[in-house]
Amino acid sequence: MNWKIPLFKIYSDDNDVDQVAEVIRSGMNWATGPKVNELESRVADYVGTKYAVTLNSGTSALHAQLLAHGIGKGDEVIVPSFTFIATANCPFFVGAKPKFADIEKDYYGLDPESVKECITKKTKAIMPVHVGGYACKIEELREIADDHGILLFEDAAESLGAKVNNKMVGTFGESSMFSFCGPKVITTGEGGVIVTDSKDIYEKIKLLRSHGRADTKDYFSTNEYLDYISLGYNFRMSNITAALGVAQMDKLDKIISIRRKNAEYLTKAIKKAGGAVKTPSPSKDRFHLFQMYTIESEDRDALMKALGDAGIMAKLYFPPVHLSHFYRNVLKYSPSLPMTEKLASRCLTLPMYPQLTKDEMDLMAEQIGKFSKRR
Ligand SMILES: Cc1ncc(COP(=O)(O)O)c(C=O)c1O
Repeated sequence: MNWKIPLFKIYSDDNDVDQVAEVIRSGMNWATGPKVNELESRVADYVGTKYAVTLNSGTSALHAQLLAHGIGKGDEVIVPSFTFIATANCPFFVGAKPKFADIEKDYYGLDPESVKECITKKTKAIMPVHVGGYACKIEELREIADDHGILLFEDAAESLGAKVNNKMVGTFGESSMFSFCGPKVITTGEGGVIVTDSKDIYEKIKLLRSHGRADTKDYFSTNEYLDYISLGYNFRMSNITAALGVAQMDKLDKIISIRRKNAEYLTKAIKKAGGAVKTPSPSKDRFHLFQMYTIESEDRDALMKALGDAGIMAKLYFPPVHLSHFYRNVLKYSPSLPMTEKLASRCLTLPMYPQLTKDEMDLMAEQIGKFSKRR
């Protein structure tokens, strides 16, 4: 569908094209190469962790992370259902099981009380999600993990640059994942990265992403035998992709700043237009990136349709994972998650990206205002 205002647009400039073109024109290092290391240092420096390791998607990153931490058969990982399905699927990839905890209403993240109720002898880790660039109750979750001697992995796919009390998201867990898939704050098309302070986990993920090969040198530019010392996959991010990542990192702070300004403008415009919806009101201790701008409405489906009729793409993030056909009918999951289901019936994510114009935001606000007056 050709939307007048799509849900997201990628923020790109000549630097993206130039950096990628440079690698392509070199005729070398399209698979592995120095841009991968450069992107990894940039991400580690930005987040403030000792290590970063890139992979070909956020999903591969979650998969490799669970393997690296030794999660496996018989283990349980506590996850939200209010997330993209990859969060819940990853435990299955390694023979473990996801256990769904409910979310809280303020940040749409895991509710610490519900997490506590989910902990059993089998629980090995908690994997919260920071939804749409807004940090969940990660400090409380860190405490719970410590109290119970279990691991904490942050699914920060959507939240590179988000903070709680000035501490970067991604630095609370034993290791954490960011995604570079299309709609994220910065993107390489597809891609992901794990950040960690653990040298051991860093080394393990490097082996897992590249066939278990001890890549002490660049495989494609040495004729030395590099030994295979464990089982591994091809989860590598290409050097071409990493070049794009480096160029996108250059813009990250600018992108975040424009998103935050746009979000503020849109909230004011919706209020001015008389929109009877709950707009985001970020708490003072949190730095919200607005990777998603989510409102709540009693009449969500009708509002989504009205916006769609006006050419504005709005969408539910997230349809709960436990209500999908696969989880409900195939895996037979039926957890009790009242807040997840309540919020999933009210939430609506509106278009939000740096290139949004004031006119476009005014149009969105006007449509929401008109809709509210008709009800
Ligand atoms: C919360 C969450 N977890 C995991 C993923 C998976 O990341 P990717 O699409 O890069 O595999 C995504 C992204 O779509 C996501 O939003």
